[in-house]
Amino acid sequence: MLTYQIQAGGQLSGTIQVPGDKSISHRAVMFAALAEGTSEITGFLSGEDCLCTMRAFRAMGVAIEQLGATHLRVRGVGLHGLKAAAAALDLGNSGTSMRLMAGLLSGQRFASELIGDASLSRRPMRRIVEPLRQMGAQIETAERGTAPLRIAAAAQLHAISYASPVASAQVKSGLLLAGLYADGRTEVREPGISRDHTERMLRAFGVQVESGNGFAAVTGGQPLRATDVAVPADISSATFFMVGAAIVPGSEVLLSGVGINPTRHGIIEILRRMGAVIELLNPREVGGEPVADLCIQAPLQLQAIAIGHDLVTLAIDEMPAVFVAAACARGQTVITGAEELRVKESDRIAAMCDGLQTLGIDAMAAADGARITGGVLHGGTVDSCGDHRIAMSFAMAALRSSAPLTILDCANVDTSFPGFADLARRAGLGIAVQPAS
Ligand code: S3P
Repeated sequence: MLTYQIQAGGQLSGTIQVPGDKSISHRAVMFAALAEGTSEITGFLSGEDCLCTMRAFRAMGVAIEQLGATHLRVRGVGLHGLKAAAAALDLGNSGTSMRLMAGLLSGQRFASELIGDASLSRRPMRRIVEPLRQMGAQIETAERGTAPLRIAAAAQLHAISYASPVASAQVKSGLLLAGLYADGRTEVREPGISRDHTERMLRAFGVQVESGNGFAAVTGGQPLRATDVAVPADISSATFFMVGAAIVPGSEVLLSGVGINPTRHGIIEILRRMGAVIELLNPREVGGEPVADLCIQAPLQLQAIAIGHDLVTLAIDEMPAVFVAAACARGQTVITGAEELRVKESDRIAAMCDGLQTLGIDAMAAADGARITGGVLHGGTVDSCGDHRIAMSFAMAALRSSAPLTILDCANVDTSFPGFADLARRAGLGIAVQPAS
């Protein structure tokens, strides 16, 4: 248990390099492990979630050398080269690891068990388990459709065409990975946009993937060919600094080498609509992913806006930080179509509204979003509910609070953003980390 103690006020400035993208780092390890040949991954996120993925593949016989803090060499074993792990695979806090690996382990000739921490063990797994069962996988869950997942040794999987009720990259990716082991063309259709890192990276590994508006498909049996992956900086981690800069007039920060994949860039649009000036400098492509340096300047006053489902899906992991921007804006920000926030690492609608209310903000939760009226943030103590993104969002709120903030239960920041407190301190936040008393 760790607590953040944060002084009120301050201003962010300078050039900030946030760590590698979490979604891309997970996929890089998984695909390199399944590939034929040796791949190197640079810019890898050495956060707990991705380390869980790395340890799981090591436990299944994949040699992964850590050449540096963010540099891995993975000796791929091919689509059929994984071996049964000696024990259950512990995926910690990581929903991405569990849902993607449920798919790919459904295609193996050995049984596996996937377990996670208390938060992951509460999260819905039926959304991935049910379509995998339609493909012929045998998976047992706990009574409420949650982890642990026990996956039996596979018979031949059957390709399906699946219309997912939720737009979820984790579900889509899990099914595409299972589809690599299926006897035909597996197609996933979705009711909205979800991130497309799997489609992009599978292509980089030599797999033919069809994709278009709301669908992706793959034909089974295609081998992956090793390739090197350069992971861009994570826009979800950059978001805390973007919001921290946007809420304090006079601030300007530059975030280097950030992934701006169009399925993930909603935060740029949201902050622009609220009045921040954001420039995308030096746009380039790295490993099939668009990247740029982001320069953010604060307006004199952020303005409240309406944020509906279409924008929410492009900024789903950034929404906790958007709640903080809304608390600092003039007027009432109305967020709708964001019910997925309730099944993330915590119930993020409840966690953000409770915390903002504690700090004196009028934040009314709804089933699928919230109404947040900008105002004066007092100091106080808020509970991050063990959720990395809640902890980092409230850390940035201190820049605009009238008295110090204490944020409880912050150890899980390491799942996605190791070194957050040090980086934030160097950028201008008065943050200290203390073991919980
Ligand atoms: C992720 C997909 C998103 C996102 C999560 C990472 C991924 O979840 O919230 O943090 O890497 O595929 P859903 O697929 O459930 O929307």
